[in-house]
Amino acid sequence: MKTFYITTAIDYVNGSPHLGHAYEKVLTDVIARFRRLMGDQVYFLTGVDEHGQKVQQTAKKRGIPPQQFCDEVSQEFRAVCARLNISNDDFIRTTEPRHKKVVCDLLQQLFDKGEIYKAEYKGFYSTRQEQFLQDKDRNPDGSWPELFGEVTEITESNYFFKLRSYQDWLVDFLKKNENFVFPRYRQKQVLEFLAEPLNDLCISRPKDRLEWGITLPFDDNFVTYVWFDALVNYYSAVIDKPGLWPADFHVIGKDILVPPHAVYWPIMLKAAGLEPPKSLLAHGWWSINGSKMSKSTGNFVDPIAFADQYGVDALRYFLIREMSVGQDSDFSLQQFLSRYNSELAASCPRRRFPKSPSRICRPCG
Ligand code: ME8
Ligand code: MG
Repeated sequence: MKTFYITTAIDYVNGSPHLGHAYEKVLTDVIARFRRLMGDQVYFLTGVDEHGQKVQQTAKKRGIPPQQFCDEVSQEFRAVCARLNISNDDFIRTTEPRHKKVVCDLLQQLFDKGEIYKAEYKGFYSTRQEQFLQDKDRNPDGSWPELFGEVTEITESNYFFKLRSYQDWLVDFLKKNENFVFPRYRQKQVLEFLAEPLNDLCISRPKDRLEWGITLPFDDNFVTYVWFDALVNYYSAVIDKPGLWPADFHVIGKDILVPPHAVYWPIMLKAAGLEPPKSLLAHGWWSINGSKMSKSTGNFVDPIAFADQYGVDALRYFLIREMSVGQDSDFSLQQFLSRYNSELAASCPRRRFPKSPSRICRPCG
């Protein structure tokens, strides 16, 4: 029997875990537990993404070495998994030697095959998104969308991965695998993205600009672009476990579907002679009072504090009940309490319904 292999995205450790991260883990956990109940063997991976500019910057602000910073914040993400009863089998960190080795082997293999080349690049760069931008990314008025944060123009030599030469293969693959992306309408967004010629992917960052990353095995003046490093976690975590690859499900948020998971990742695997994952599940975003929850804005709910106050099962129930998979939802205490009282407490033997929705029916124990 093939083991059902399911993963979450690995979270950036540049800030503490929030409800959006908690949701993704709970959603994945619900799928994993369901498959186990159905008699499947399941392998469930989660973890953290520890390299890149954002982490380097945040550690610097805190005045501690990046590794120490990662060690601290990774513990917070592990604690969320434990507190929310997430049944993951493994927790990978991209600073672990087992991961770095696989990234280096993959880079060297692609370099030896001529899939990676060096060239000069001039362009606009978003630190927040860790990506080079093109004119098509601009707002109609020429400015850069807020999503990109601070945008700067840079010129530098870098290494590029031949993404474009796999474009036709990917389009063909998506047409043959109509259910690759769930919900299905998001697969259309991938094809729309592929309607324009792809640029080759810049996979290096010069060390004078970014030190906190995996050194390229063929040029130690550079570190690996954080996405090229992070995506590999799904494979590096199970390379020594026969029968797990390809993954059955990568559960991710809609913001990281196109291009990283739906374009870069299948092409990286194809170029390395590995099978693409079976499917991607892209969920929506939780907002609070209408604005996106995010570490950078400080607008978030702490899942551990919330579970401590209202109970872990109530939180898990609400996250899954309130959001239809793929859509966005707004989180409010009012809505939580109202579902708690009407849907959970309604089956309580003592049937004590608080009159005010701001009060909660305490578990009878
Ligand atoms: O993107 N609501 O990390 P991340 C729902 N390291 N989901 C949310 C959310 C919200 N408000 N905010 C974030 C990264 N997420 C990369 C991933 S995978 C190889 C590398 C989800 O910490 C987000 O969509 O910014 C993503 O799936 C996950 O949390 C981690 O986000
Ligand atoms: Mg993010």
